Parts: sequence; C-alpha cells; structure tokens
Amino acid sequence: MSISVIICNGCCCGRVEKGHNEVPIDELEAAWEANRIGEAVKLTISDCLGPCSMHNVSLLNTGSGKIWLGELSSLDDYEAIVEWAIESSEKKEGSKLPEILEARRFVRVGESIVRLRDLG
Ligand code: FES
Repeated sequence: MSISVIICNGCCCGRVEKGHNEVPIDELEAAWEANRIGEAVKLTISDCLGPCSMHNVSLLNTGSGKIWLGELSSLDDYEAIVEWAIESSEKKEGSKLPEILEARRFVRVGESIVRLRDLG
C-alpha cells in the first residue's frame, strides 16, 4: 500500500453553508506542489468518505494501515497534515502523527464512531 492523503470535501465536510469549516483545498494543493511530495504521497480531494458526522474528515494511508482523522477545524490541522506528508515522503513510510492530529483520530466500528482521545 502506498502512502496517501485523502481529504474529504463532500456533501458535509467543507460545506460552510451547513456551518462547517471550509477545506483549504488550494492551500493543500499548493503545499504539495511547493514541497514536491506528490510522487511519494498522493493527495486526493474526495467526495464523501462516509463518516459525515466527523466533519471535516481525512483519511491517511500510512503504507501499512489507515488513519481516520475527523473534526478538523483549523488551518493548523491541515498544516499538520502537510507536515506529516512531508515527513512521510522523506521516510518513505507513514510518519508518526503530530499530537494535534492524534487528538483528531477516530476509528469506525460498524456504524459507530469512536474517538481515540475518548479511550484515554
Ligand atoms: S462529506 Fe466528508 S465524510 Fe461525508
């Protein structure tokens, strides 16, 4: 499995008219280009990934697993994703998540969402 970042910009994520934060697509694409990481870490802007209640959602493929991120609310969150992607492109494997993103992790158990920070 290769390393990739999928950013949801679907029916809920990024929909300011629904009261959600905008997804900074232009900034993300510009950061990928400026840092030339597109070959090592594929960036995809996607339609709905499923867990809409966690808007805004992203899915990281680390090369050995998947990490769901949700409730991305600020530019800092997305900048942390860029940092993770840069580090991962250098290491050629999914890098350790920065703390700001660890706090955004969740897992899907059937139809349920479990925030990892709630597990203590
Ligand atoms: S719109 Fe992002 S998960 Fe549904």
